[in-house]
Amino acid sequence: MPQIRLLGTTAFRVVMVYLILFGASVLALLAFVYWTTAGISTAQTDDTIRAEITGLAEQYRAGGLVGLSQIVRERSRNQRQSIYLLTDPGRRPIAGNINAWPEAETTAEGWLEFPYNRPVGGEIETHLARARHLSLEAGFQLLVGRDIQERLDLEQVMRSSLAWSLALTLGLGLLGGYFISRNMLRRIEAINRTSREVMAGGLEKRVPVTGSGDELDQLAGNLNAMLAQIERLITGMRQVTENIAHDLRSPLNRMRSRLEVTLMEEPDSDGYRESIRETIEESERLLGTFNALLEIARAESGHGADTLKPVDLSTVVRNASELYEALAEEKGLAFTAELEPELNITGDENLLSQAVGNLMDNAIKYTPGGGTITVSARKLGERVELSVADSGPGIPMDKRDDVLNRFVRLEESRSSPGSGLGLSLVQAVALLHRAELSLEDNSPGLRVILRFSTAPS
Ligand SMILES: Nc1ncnc2c1ncn2[C@@H]1O[C@H](COP(=O)(O)OP(=O)(O)O)[C@@H](O)[C@H]1O
Ligand SMILES: [Mg+2]
Repeated sequence: MPQIRLLGTTAFRVVMVYLILFGASVLALLAFVYWTTAGISTAQTDDTIRAEITGLAEQYRAGGLVGLSQIVRERSRNQRQSIYLLTDPGRRPIAGNINAWPEAETTAEGWLEFPYNRPVGGEIETHLARARHLSLEAGFQLLVGRDIQERLDLEQVMRSSLAWSLALTLGLGLLGGYFISRNMLRRIEAINRTSREVMAGGLEKRVPVTGSGDELDQLAGNLNAMLAQIERLITGMRQVTENIAHDLRSPLNRMRSRLEVTLMEEPDSDGYRESIRETIEESERLLGTFNALLEIARAESGHGADTLKPVDLSTVVRNASELYEALAEEKGLAFTAELEPELNITGDENLLSQAVGNLMDNAIKYTPGGGTITVSARKLGERVELSVADSGPGIPMDKRDDVLNRFVRLEESRSSPGSGLGLSLVQAVALLHRAELSLEDNSPGLRVILRFSTAPS
């Protein structure tokens, strides 16, 4: 794993906190189980011994020492886990199943615990016993107890299995934490690596997406979308710069050489006048091209995206129609506009009328006299459809994508004025409005359709 240390990662710390909480709960649970089981069986033993002592004390009161020793003798024969010992004032055994008074101290409550030897299947084992001490009259002593070895063994087994479960829980938790954080770390490192590559100039690099759809994947997806957007903007900017360099150089050169030639000729006020007029015309075209390029860049950068407002497309198209209808009639073209009222979309009014104007301008420019131009705008379900159709030469199928690029003009259109930016702007405006742009055959002629969505995005 690179530079970052596993233990220092957020993922690992989160896992550790969970592990500690989980470990503490497991510990508490196990402690509770242990305490109830072991504690209860100790209390049970004590109760049994106490009850037996009470019983024997009664027997002693009723039958005296002789009666008691008889009962002790009897019970010593039968009871397997019980321990009895009756001794005289010199602590010498009278009856019972152990042969000497244990050396252990008796506690203030009268209890004592001691090891003793017990025959088990022919062998002598040392077991632990817990017993209660009762002093009788005249220095005689009674000891009643239980073998607690089995219980201690059980407690021992429980303790070790509890320790094992805790160790296992912590071990598995640690292992899980290690793998989870390693996986997280690997994915975050992938994001870091991509960022470094992008910073080093690899703008086309993308963060790998695992397809799991989790939050890291969402982060990767968003970063990728952001990178794509940045790449698009930068490419667009670069393209504009290159376009300007290539396509504005020749008109500027033309202007300069015309002025130089004029200067070299004999001073002549009519010649000067003509030259100035041509220069003004040329610079107007240049300004037009500049403006068109800027408009396209503005639309493409999505600069207007947050300034998109409710617009009535019907009004926008009607205003443009009023302007271009006269031009069409001048050229002898039949111009019809079929507009449904109130076609509300969200958009940039200026850019929209610029785009509609470009489409009408093309239709008029490229359709020979006597043709027809039909503009329509209508609502189709959730969409608003705008179409500008003409009966001119149309655009061949294989050129329909190409003419959308900047400065592209078809060979046969070179004679008419234009810069090849009209449709580029239409496309940029369509993109900005998330509208679908299609160039279709109007047989004969071209039909350009823009489909806007009315659903709020
Ligand atoms: N309505 C149309 N009919 C035929 N050809 C067209 C039409 N509109 C556009 N074109 C072709 O597409 C090219 C690009 O159009 P455009 O981007 O508007 O640039 P411009 O009009 O300045 O040449 C035009 O030069 C022309 O060849
Ligand atoms: Mg045009």
